[in-house]
Amino acid sequence: MKQINTRPSFSKAVLIITMMILFLIVNLASGELNYHHPDNAGNDELKKDSVESVNAFMQVYKVLMSPRCMNCHPSGDIPLQGDDSHIHTMEPKRGTDGKGLYAMKCMNCHQSANVPGAHTPPGNPNWHMPPADMKMIFEGRTPRQLARQLVDPNQNGHKDTKALLEHAHDGLVLAAWDPGEGRSLPPMSHEDFAKAWNRWINLGAFAPPADAK
Ligand code: HEC
Ligand code: HEC
Repeated sequence: MKQINTRPSFSKAVLIITMMILFLIVNLASGELNYHHPDNAGNDELKKDSVESVNAFMQVYKVLMSPRCMNCHPSGDIPLQGDDSHIHTMEPKRGTDGKGLYAMKCMNCHQSANVPGAHTPPGNPNWHMPPADMKMIFEGRTPRQLARQLVDPNQNGHKDTKALLEHAHDGLVLAAWDPGEGRSLPPMSHEDFAKAWNRWINLGAFAPPADAK
């Protein structure tokens, strides 16, 4: 009698343990597959993030390429001026530290605050362009090129993610929304810009495809 009772419960236990082991193996295997193949079904979340991240960057890009930002981030060594981004009159040069060369120091003309009136130099206590050894050029960059450049510590002033996020509130960035008389504002509010900037970075700082404009 005893033997008849134990046998079925023993084989039941074996069956349950076998099923548990099989369950574990299947789970581990699929975990491995997802890990090695991010494009697999089940990782839609990741894909969606890259799409949203790129969408956010395309907003950011409109601001970066607006004259209020690009005029200090030119491809040459002379800043640009005005809504049409013409070469700065009197042609002040970048210099090694971005603060001008010889008698043409930026701060000789640019005061610490805006001066009232048209065609006066915009003011900021830190008014200068990026230094010669890290020019941080925006002019002429495609969305893809600029997105990659901005997150490259060797091209962005050695900024990590935290420093990059904080840069949205940098004094020279904010200056673009107080540009002085006769200059247009960037194409969205600073709040919306900062939101898009955070979204782009926090969702993975993905770069747009090569044909994005
Ligand atoms: C008066 C000139 C000036 C203006 C105007 C200006 N910048 Fe800059 N920008 C600089 C300088 C100088 C640096 C380098 C200092 C640093 O890295 O902290 C810099 C650095 C940056 C960086 C970090 C570099 C990188 O590749 O990540 C970003 C991003 C940036 N600027 C964005 C902007 C945006 C956005 C605007 C407009 C809303 C703007 N800048 C307007 C001078 C300017
Ligand atoms: C000799 C005086 C002088 C010097 C030196 C000077 N600037 Fe200017 N800057 C001006 C004036 C004046 C304006 C406004 C011109 C206008 O609106 O017609 C101006 C405008 C600008 C603008 C355009 C702002 C905008 O949003 O369109 C930028 C950018 C700029 N300067 C950057 C610099 C940098 C960087 C340096 C140093 C490398 C520098 N400037 C040196 C006088 C000067």
